[in-house]
Amino acid sequence: MGKIRKKIALIFGITGQDGSYLSELLLKKNYIIHGVKRRSSSANTERIDHLFDSLNFSNKNFFIHYGDISDGTSTLNIINKVKPDEIYNLAAQSHVRVSFDVPEYTADVTALGALRILESIRILNLKKTKYYQASSSEMYGLVKKKKSLNEKTPFHPRSVYGISKVFAFNATVHYREAYNIFACNGILFNHESPRRGPTFVTKKIVQGLVRIQKGLQNKLTLGNLYAVRDWGHAKDYAISMWKILQYKKPDDWVIATNKDQTVKKFIDLVAKKLNIPLKWRGKGINEKGINKINGKVIVDLDKKFLRPSEVDFLKGDFSKAKKHLKWSPGISTDQLIDDMINEELSIY
Ligand code: NAP
Ligand code: GDD
Repeated sequence: MGKIRKKIALIFGITGQDGSYLSELLLKKNYIIHGVKRRSSSANTERIDHLFDSLNFSNKNFFIHYGDISDGTSTLNIINKVKPDEIYNLAAQSHVRVSFDVPEYTADVTALGALRILESIRILNLKKTKYYQASSSEMYGLVKKKKSLNEKTPFHPRSVYGISKVFAFNATVHYREAYNIFACNGILFNHESPRRGPTFVTKKIVQGLVRIQKGLQNKLTLGNLYAVRDWGHAKDYAISMWKILQYKKPDDWVIATNKDQTVKKFIDLVAKKLNIPLKWRGKGINEKGINKINGKVIVDLDKKFLRPSEVDFLKGDFSKAKKHLKWSPGISTDQLIDDMINEELSIY
């Protein structure tokens, strides 16, 4: 009997939160993984260092290539060299607030980066290569009714990040329709984990409140407390990415928990778990979270963390994925917060 050929996956954005969980999942599924990492002056592989020999940039089933999706030639060359069965495009300038500061760069990487990969698949005539695009609930933007959003809900992005993701979403659909490429969008709602970047709100809250509890920080300064998000665990969402590419036909899928919470509620939940006695006082930008016992301000607000236009409400209806992909979130918000707190506590 001949040996079964291992599947080959190429991951753009392998050093990010999702890239690390997806790599772990695919290694368990016996894939050979190639990842693309951009050059940085300090180490940017800490989320995946446990998966490979970082000095040699490889192990038996795991290879890292230097590249950048703002560089079309290197993107095409890597895809040509690896000839993957599956490409996961997780690479992006992924911070919504930062996209107001660097709009042109965000569009180059987040919108045109996806196009460069899709064009490479087309030019190289890779008929069997499947493509996953990391699309985002940020594309919905301004929603008319505060109800669960699904694959049919129209997009009205509120940032250049959101606009760029809509471009990449449409490019993915276009390459599927025009060139018959197995190209799919996962419209993922917010997902978090201990590996979340420190400037995203959940990580900032957990890190800040743990440090306050340990006496290492006095207060946490935030922006809009009343934005509503649907927060899942990145580990669950990596499974959905893989399932999307294993489905019998290419399609677009909402991945979410269908639960919603405000930023303020998230703070309350974390504070409660850390036994920080928190009460709220004041209104608008003067609202403050105060330690009930000693009256000290633990949370305050600063305009610099507000956005010129905000996405007020995100909650996702994942019933299509549940029915056809048999995907549902396995980790609750409560467990997500425990996971994030435990990781943070283990540092000190
Ligand atoms: P992340 O932690 O910010 O990771 C982004 C990855 O993209 C990193 O590996 C980053 O490399 C890489 N990257 C950035 N610019 C690049 C470039 N020019 N060329 C090549 N690689 C580049 O984001 P994440 O949370 O894992 O999210 C993964 C993807 O899903 C992103 O596209 C994001 O926009 C999208 N998404 C995320 C969520 C969420 O809630 N997490 C929801 C919906 C969609 P460095 O490590 O060098 O920075
Ligand atoms: N980052 C941040 N920092 N957000 C804050 C802060 C703060 O100090 N204070 C309040 N917020 C509010 C933001 O205004 C936003 O409404 C909400 O908290 C969540 O912000 P982020 O955690 O930065 O996430 P995001 O929803 O803007 O974007 C994330 O989710 C998208 C999917 O909906 C990112 O992961 C995107 O890449 C992803 O596409």
